[in-house]
Amino acid sequence: MTTLLTGGAGYIGAHVAAALLEAGQGIVIVDNESCSTGHNVAALSEAFQRPIDYHRFDVRERDRLAATMRDHRVTRVIHLAAFKSVGESVEKPIDYFDNNIGGAVALLAAMAEAGVERLLFSSSATVYGLPQYLPLDEGHPLAALNPYGQTKLTIEQLIGSFAASRPGFAAINLRYFNPIGFHPSIDLREDGPRLPDNLVPHILAALGGQIGELSVFGDDYDTPDGSCLRDYLHVVDVAEGHRAALDRLDVMTGGVDNINLGRGVGVSVFELVEAFGRIGGREVPRRVVGRRAGDAPAMFADPTKAKRELGWSARLDLDAMVRDSLRQLGAAAKTG
Ligand code: UD1
Repeated sequence: MTTLLTGGAGYIGAHVAAALLEAGQGIVIVDNESCSTGHNVAALSEAFQRPIDYHRFDVRERDRLAATMRDHRVTRVIHLAAFKSVGESVEKPIDYFDNNIGGAVALLAAMAEAGVERLLFSSSATVYGLPQYLPLDEGHPLAALNPYGQTKLTIEQLIGSFAASRPGFAAINLRYFNPIGFHPSIDLREDGPRLPDNLVPHILAALGGQIGELSVFGDDYDTPDGSCLRDYLHVVDVAEGHRAALDRLDVMTGGVDNINLGRGVGVSVFELVEAFGRIGGREVPRRVVGRRAGDAPAMFADPTKAKRELGWSARLDLDAMVRDSLRQLGAAAKTG
């Protein structure tokens, strides 16, 4: 039973790979390194003392993808390969349609060709658009606020139509909230060519001196401290959620399910920044600037479906997320 991970060299993908390797499962990784480097695969190989089946190519090469599935007798796919910058997607929507939607279409075609019937899709809480109520459960109306969100929503819809055409095909869309932190003992990184738009990479860049200070996007929201609330969860918990979802996929007879991966706790930007200062022993240089367009004041999950259907809930708390993020500063300094 081998699981193919597209985007498995990236930040979340490599953590999922680690969880599967820790559980003794077989994996094969396909990644074009557009948002990563070879570092994580090398770190996995070193940690588990074995070579990783790694193929560096673009998932849109569908014949190659189908051949890889056949060669490795793949039975399940986790599709993580995608661009994820909201701002960039507004400027270059075609790149996002091409890479994310084009990638998903090629993947489904390759799965059909190779006869692979199980898919976990790396979706996002972005598919809920602006919250109409909180916490966000899987029945909340769906909306896309930008081209990136459009790609996630469209892919969920494509998977739905594909599943309807193939009895026996089963998929789960995992809607992630805000994964942060890093593996506590394996040196996995988020090391693509650009600094991601997200909060924690900017906090680390401010602490590491790559940027002068963190820009806090707005302190005048209708929230307890004026900054936005998000549902941060440890990426190691996210990875465990994938492992649990694979078990569920194996017993599904067909169809598509949607499941949130979140803690169900709203944490503000200021609270997170304070935790980095407190645990790291050094204040995060920061400045409040204007609101970022499209930011919801608060987003957090109703995680009960994951608990009920996967037997999964997040175990690691905010301090663990912050501690395991701060270790990156030391790791990056050691190897440059
Ligand atoms: C963002 C995307 C979301 C995507 C997710 C994963 C938007 C509106 N949403 O989620 O669609 O699925 O990333 O890539 O972009 N913040 C700062 N300063 C910074 C960076 C962020 O104050 O330099 C604040 C933001 O305003 C927000 C919080 O930190 O309140 C979290 O931001 P971020 O990490 O980008 O995640 P989301 O906005 O939740």
